Amino acid sequence: MTTKIPARIQWAVETLAVAPDDHLLEIGCGTGVAVALIAEHLSGGKIVAIDRSEKMIAQARKKNQALVEVGQVDFQVADVETMDFGEMRFNKIFAVNVNLFWTKPAAELQGVIKRLKSCLQTGGSLSLFYEPPDISQTQIIADMVTGVLAAHDFTIREVLYQGLESARGVCIIAHV
Ligand SMILES: C[S@@+](CC[C@H](N)C(=O)[O-])C[C@H]1O[C@@H](n2cnc3c(N)ncnc32)[C@H](O)[C@@H]1O
Repeated sequence: MTTKIPARIQWAVETLAVAPDDHLLEIGCGTGVAVALIAEHLSGGKIVAIDRSEKMIAQARKKNQALVEVGQVDFQVADVETMDFGEMRFNKIFAVNVNLFWTKPAAELQGVIKRLKSCLQTGGSLSLFYEPPDISQTQIIADMVTGVLAAHDFTIREVLYQGLESARGVCIIAHV
């Protein structure tokens, strides 16, 4: 049985313009739908995908078993607030529909920003995609996310909007 790929995931993967040797990190990968599409573009590159839900990571590993076995994809149970990749750096970090910022107390927010910066390669990009169910939220989210990133020394490279099925998506692309 083939699973329909959600339009937001298709859009995210196209927007990321994956190069064969990219080293990507996905935060909040769910069942790994984006990872499977991205892996098709990789040759020599790699994607690490995290989710704080053990159940999601178990499903993602099962669905992408062949990619995991050849070492192209690594799924890890981890929270963005505590993730630690040692010396590993990524040239593209992204998340789709993950609330990284808006309900977090200041201390947790600082933790998230610190973790993102610590594993983003110099010159690398952070791309945050959102498809809010309520169309009126799109601009609010765009403004809030760009505000938080700019306040923490990220430079906003682009803010893209996209019509998606019944919603309006936004992608904020930033670098340090
Ligand atoms: C709305 S789902 C989106 C899943 C997938 N990215 C998609 O667009 O279909 C959000 C996912 O992010 C994960 N998540 C939420 N907060 C997280 C955090 N702080 N660290 C890691 N994963 C998180 C959840 O467990 C969930 O699987």
